[in-house]
Amino acid sequence: METPLTKNIRPGELPLDLAGYEKAGGYQGLRKALALSPTEVQEAVKQANLRGRGGAGFPTGVKWSVVPMGDGAPRPKYLIANVDEMEPGTFKDRYLVEGNPHQLLEGMIIAAYAIQAEISYVFLRWAYKLAYQRLEKAIGEAYAAGYLGQNILGSGFHLRMHLHTSAGRYICGEESALLNSLEGKRATPRSRPPFPQVSGLWGKPTIVNNTETLCNVPHILANGAEWYKGLSKTNDGGTKLYGVSGKVKRPGLWELPMGTTIREIFEDHAGGMREGLTCRGLIPGGASTDFLLPDQFDVQMDFDTVQKAGSRLGTGTIVVLDDQTCPVGFVLNLQQFFALESCGWCTPCREGLPWVAKLLSALEQGSGSEGDIAILKEQTSGLWLGKTFCALAPGAMEPLQSALKFFGDDFTRHVREQRCPWRS
Ligand SMILES: Cc1cc2nc3c(=O)[nH]c(=O)nc-3n(C[C@H](O)[C@H](O)[C@H](O)COP(=O)(O)O)c2cc1C
Ligand code: SF4
Repeated sequence: METPLTKNIRPGELPLDLAGYEKAGGYQGLRKALALSPTEVQEAVKQANLRGRGGAGFPTGVKWSVVPMGDGAPRPKYLIANVDEMEPGTFKDRYLVEGNPHQLLEGMIIAAYAIQAEISYVFLRWAYKLAYQRLEKAIGEAYAAGYLGQNILGSGFHLRMHLHTSAGRYICGEESALLNSLEGKRATPRSRPPFPQVSGLWGKPTIVNNTETLCNVPHILANGAEWYKGLSKTNDGGTKLYGVSGKVKRPGLWELPMGTTIREIFEDHAGGMREGLTCRGLIPGGASTDFLLPDQFDVQMDFDTVQKAGSRLGTGTIVVLDDQTCPVGFVLNLQQFFALESCGWCTPCREGLPWVAKLLSALEQGSGSEGDIAILKEQTSGLWLGKTFCALAPGAMEPLQSALKFFGDDFTRHVREQRCPWRS
């Protein structure tokens, strides 16, 4: 099984420096890209069926192709790597940048070439201090070797790269709030249209891509779209970093073919539940995805299949709920995070999420009522897509609505017994 994204990551050791990365085949994808035209690079990524790994699964080549090209295009254009990664349960991008920073830089340079951007930013989560040091060193090496700066490898293409630390809020990862934040403004989302591809950072064409998305790009250019599609078990190209956390035997992160089943990830890689525990369900792709149940474990973890099963692939990092953990407490924990991270820009989310957290907290402590459960159900539609300014609040509603559906008896038991049955 091929693992292009992680094969050069050596856990517990320093990442490859520039010489080591080059020796392992690094920057060959960039050399191939620079021999093609920008639109040919876009086409190669389209053919590869690379879908964005930031959560929504938008086809990467299609996204790039919307950027205005040619002499008349507004300038400068920007390419941004989103390394904000504050989604609870998600730690895949950190693994990639700490373990192999040059891989991200190479993907960024190729992406910038494809859209003819002259300025790029790594937008990094503030807490990722080690990643900061490693990226800073790698960017210095790339400048010194002529992979960044003026006339890259004699191609006539120029690119500057800046490392920017996020202010440390979840909303900064939402691409339009990220742009406001980079401009030094309050990090609130922007209305769309216009989309960032046309009017993004300082009103200029901008592409924001997830870290894992960009790390795939050098391998597509180096080995071709057919090879890349062949790595996957389904229509979405490539491999995927899948993670599992919760009370499993071996929590962790694995690079596997896109479309690997939940069962294989959960049983073969994470080792199943710890002794004495039973799995009641899981959220498949970070905190803002709906629960799936154990009878759905043969679902393939790709964008369309997980959606058909009633949830979303999201970040592909699974969080497991066991039978000794209170589902109300589990969801309360998530809603407290979302309430804290609401950016406060629109009223339904600013007022609604703290209310949801307050009701759940009362239920969990045994002082809730049947009426509270009814209000929670109402909130899942009141804070749904189209009712709030961005996807943060609807994302928060996903685990709540499915918990109310699948674990409804546990909610009513808290009301009936006026206590949390999981507490002694
Ligand atoms: C509240 C919120 C937080 C987000 N946080 C991140 C993040 O930390 N990293 C990320 O790549 N995308 C995040 N996204 C998705 C981005 O808006 C955007 O879709 C993504 O960076 C695009 O990259 P892709 O096309 O490569 O998937 C977030 C979205 C929302 C609504
Ligand atoms: S939904 Fe929440 S996070 Fe998004 S704009 Fe409204 S208040 Fe801000």
